[in-house]
This record gives sequence, structure tokens and C-alpha cells, in this order.
Amino acid sequence: MKTSQSASDKGSQAQDNSGSSASVLTCSHLSKVYSNGPQAIEVLSDVNFSIDKGESVAIVGSSGAGKSTLLNLLGGLDLPSRGEVVLLGNNFADLNEKSRGLLRNRSLGFVYQFHHLLPEFTALENVIMPLIIGKHSKSEASDRAAQLLKRVGLSERLNHKPSELSGGERQRVAIARALVAQPACVLMDEPTGNLDRKTAESIQKLMEELNSELGTSFIVVTHDESLALEQDRVLYLADGQLHHQDPLHH
Ligand SMILES: Nc1ncnc2c1ncn2[C@@H]1O[C@H](COP(=O)(O)OP(=O)(O)OP(=O)(O)O)[C@@H](O)[C@H]1O
Ligand SMILES: [Mg+2]
Repeated sequence: MKTSQSASDKGSQAQDNSGSSASVLTCSHLSKVYSNGPQAIEVLSDVNFSIDKGESVAIVGSSGAGKSTLLNLLGGLDLPSRGEVVLLGNNFADLNEKSRGLLRNRSLGFVYQFHHLLPEFTALENVIMPLIIGKHSKSEASDRAAQLLKRVGLSERLNHKPSELSGGERQRVAIARALVAQPACVLMDEPTGNLDRKTAESIQKLMEELNSELGTSFIVVTHDESLALEQDRVLYLADGQLHHQDPLHH
């Protein structure tokens, strides 16, 4: 992760590294039309994007621009109206829901904008969940989850349920859950939205460590300028397309 970025082709759509062999996650000609409202809205139109192993990308853009929609499509949580998403050589459209779920569990971590923790389980159990689904032993899963919760500053909250945690604490549990299985790529939707500067910086540091130790790739949707600038590239989502333009410095 570093702070350099290209503002040279301001305004042009990003067509980054498509087809590169080191690519972890690629989407091509991705469009999404929501047709359930009073009128059909095309939120994404012909988005092309690719992220390499060990690369980190920030996606910024105004509210309603389609950032969460894009992240959901990249994570295989929703299917596009047109175009395709390929994760580690697997096209989501070729997989049934079960195989998509397995691939996601093995290779992706996801931090939702509204964390989605399981309310009836403790912080520790929420973080253990991806490892149990991934068939790790219970004691190993428990050790790894506890370690990561300690790393995000929650060693004193292992047995609290989400309703017994603050908003920022829930967000940190969700971050630990996304990272615990050491996925190839982590998709984060506003991961530091509820955090103070110091806590946000500790999350940023954790991401950097995983990035350098394990080559984890990060796609981070954020309004947090400092977090955005920490990533290798900053892309701007507007008018249904990703641009290289840096909106933070015009
Ligand atoms: N399920 C849906 N059905 C219909 N329209 C939707 C649906 N989900 C989102 N939208 C619309 O699509 C647009 C993009 O929504 P999205 O949640 O992707 O925005 P966002 O960039 O993540 O915004 P924010 O920064 O506020 O989180 C919005 O105008 C929203 O109203
Ligand atoms: Mg959103």
C-alpha cells in the first residue's frame, strides 16, 4: 500500500490491468439496472475493473453513486444485469449459489456497510463462523478469532453479543470476521465509518500488515480521505462508471 496515484487521465474510465494473470478479481462490461422502483435506474453501466494480488484500491464517490452495488456484485452477493465478474479464474455466472458461496468463503472477506453480525452470537462466535464454515478445527478457529479480536482492540469483549457492543466495536468485529480466514481479497464498505481517528489508524495498520505479510488485496469503499490515500489506487465512481480522477484534490 502506498500513496501514489495517477491523475494523468482525468475523467477517463479506468480500464485497469484487465486480463492480467496476477489478477485476483476482474469485472468486465458490468452493468446493474434496478427495475423494482417506480422507474428503472441504471446504477452501473459498463464498468471494467481488475485488482492484482497484493494490490489495494479505494473506491470513492457520492452517496447513491452505486459503490455498495458495485461491491456486492464484485463479491458475488448479487448478480449483474450485464457483464461478468471473475474471481481467481472462476466466473460467478457459471456457478450455482452453493459453489458461489464456497468460493466466497474460501477467497473473499466482506465488511458490509451495515456490518450484518449475527445477533444471537457473541463477538468471538461471529468471528469464528467463517473458519467453521471453512472446516477448520474448533480450537484453531477459536484461537485465531480471539487473536484477531485482540488485534482490533476487543480482547475484553469476546463474549459480548452485538447488541451489547458500541457501533464502532461492532464494526471492528465485522472487520475481524472478514479477515480471519486470510482471504485473497477483502471487500470493505465504509470500514472506518464509525471509528475515531486513532482506532481507524489501527485498522489501517492491520490492513497494511496483512497486505505485506500475506499479499492480501483490498477493495475499500470509503469517505475517509486518509484511508483512501493509503491505498495503491483511488478510483472515483460517478455516472455509473469508474474514473481515475481524484475527487479529493480538485
Ligand atoms: N435494491 C434496490 N432496488 C432499487 N434501487 C436500489 C436498490 N439498491 C440501491 N438502489 C439505488 O441504487 C443507487 C445506488 O445505491 P448504492 O447503495 O450502491 O449507493 P452507494 O454509492 O453505496 O451510496 P452510500 O454512499 O450512501 O452508501 C441508489 O440511488 C439507490 O437508491
Ligand atoms: Mg453504500
